[in-house]
Amino acid sequence: MEANTPRFYFVFLSLLLSSRFLVEGFSGEEEEEEKDIKITDFPHGFVFGVSTSAYQIEGAYLEGGKSLNNWDVFSRIQGNIKHGDNGYISVDDYHRYLEDTEIVHSLGVKAYRLSISWSRVLPEGRFGQVNPAGVMFYSNVIDKLLLKGIEPFLTIHHHDLPQELEDRYGAWLSPLMQEDFVHFAEICFKNFGDRVKYWMTINEPNLFANLAYMDGKYPPGRCSLPFGNCSVGNSDIEPLTVMHNMLLAHAKAAKLYRDHFQAIRLPKQGGSIGIVVSATMFEPLRDDPIDQEAANRASLDPLLFGDYPPEMRHYLGSNLPCFSPEETKYIEGSIDFIAVNHYTTLYAKDCLHSNCTAGADHAIKGYAYITGERDGVFIGEPTGMPECYVVPRGMENIVDYLKKRYHNMPMFVTENGYASLELQDAQMKNLLHDSKRIEFHKAYLAFLARAIRKGADVRGYFVWTLMDDFEWISGYRMRLGMYYVHPQTLNRIPKLSAQWYEGFLSSNGLNNKEATNASLLKDENAIVSEPVNETAEI
Ligand code: FCB
Repeated sequence: MEANTPRFYFVFLSLLLSSRFLVEGFSGEEEEEEKDIKITDFPHGFVFGVSTSAYQIEGAYLEGGKSLNNWDVFSRIQGNIKHGDNGYISVDDYHRYLEDTEIVHSLGVKAYRLSISWSRVLPEGRFGQVNPAGVMFYSNVIDKLLLKGIEPFLTIHHHDLPQELEDRYGAWLSPLMQEDFVHFAEICFKNFGDRVKYWMTINEPNLFANLAYMDGKYPPGRCSLPFGNCSVGNSDIEPLTVMHNMLLAHAKAAKLYRDHFQAIRLPKQGGSIGIVVSATMFEPLRDDPIDQEAANRASLDPLLFGDYPPEMRHYLGSNLPCFSPEETKYIEGSIDFIAVNHYTTLYAKDCLHSNCTAGADHAIKGYAYITGERDGVFIGEPTGMPECYVVPRGMENIVDYLKKRYHNMPMFVTENGYASLELQDAQMKNLLHDSKRIEFHKAYLAFLARAIRKGADVRGYFVWTLMDDFEWISGYRMRLGMYYVHPQTLNRIPKLSAQWYEGFLSSNGLNNKEATNASLLKDENAIVSEPVNETAEI
């Protein structure tokens, strides 16, 4: 890099939609943590919900006309998924959705976020017919939710896609995927749009592009050195191509919705549409402006401003695809709300002017080294998810940042959750006594409430997740659910966190202490021992 390079740049490791920015000192963390959060700390009409995704819970991988998808095929290859797990049966929500809707209802939430399995609705993408059994399944789920007074929040694409599209043209690496996605979205709008008012086009394009095409950990498992040792791929370029196609697919689907569905006012259609971003918060590693700059980049600009930020163009040069003037028009203002998935905060260290490990010194990583540790001290308490620490203040900071940068556009926190550390614990009853999960949600909610009090237009909060599920490459041993799922019977057993959430929502004030003392003994007896002394992976 030239010495006179402007001292600002994007952090590109989570690419386009990730939010990374500097924190100008934060005070008041203790004050928030001491406070016992209550539902009344949130504005009237604020929506509480719970979040899931199709592939992580449904199972029934070849039933009801569903075709093989990218995860079905990826899971077959030994070593790709921890313990050789797969989503073939998963927690069988496909057959148990009635029971699952009851559980959601019993929590007292007013919203449920789910996604549509692409290969269940369009087994061959736009090269085949719509599968009526697939449409019927989601129609039934939606009806059942509405009957219970629960608002469905629908993610159209959450990591899973028909293998057919991968085999035909390389899925997201090809611009053809934009047309396939728009077709899929249209089928969803047509079939569910009379009842679904909150749409999210794509879940975490930034995270998916990096995990699948830079690290090679998600299907199709493409990467190059030093990021990973895959047989094919180019980690410096492919994530950019994939992001570009995903952004355009999102923008085109949003335009279709706006032009042909949203405009048709109630009682049919007339909802709103957004995209889900993986929003990790970043703080400078050292008290040094260059680390602050490394942490100071948010990349939602293309969605709202119609092009990539100039800093990205500067560092990525011709590797960064261009938008045509027409595409820019599609992208500008293509969202009605931002759906924010927030779990943790990490440190960023500059790699332009300082030495960094291989990888972090690449443009695709924004020349930033990311870590959870400073001088041997973690940024927050570690969780069962690698690189994920408990840093409640990050919730306020991320929301505050998005508020400022995006003119206080409406936001929903569509994912926030805690991965248990009990993986190491021989006493499986600890999986049910998940008081740390309760503490996590209480603390993050307190900071969210504070951001709202300061004026952020946040309209809802969704816990990730309803029940322990197929956590992608970590399989079933990484648990974020409020319900434990028995590995043999697949019975759903409430954890303390489920009791806490229910109490919180019904304002009966069950606090953490009471919840911890609550008896779960009858449920504990139902749990069998599992070999669990291995760590998860993402
Ligand atoms: C998010 C994903 C979700 C789940 C959680 C733990 O990044 O959107 O599917 O895996 O992480």
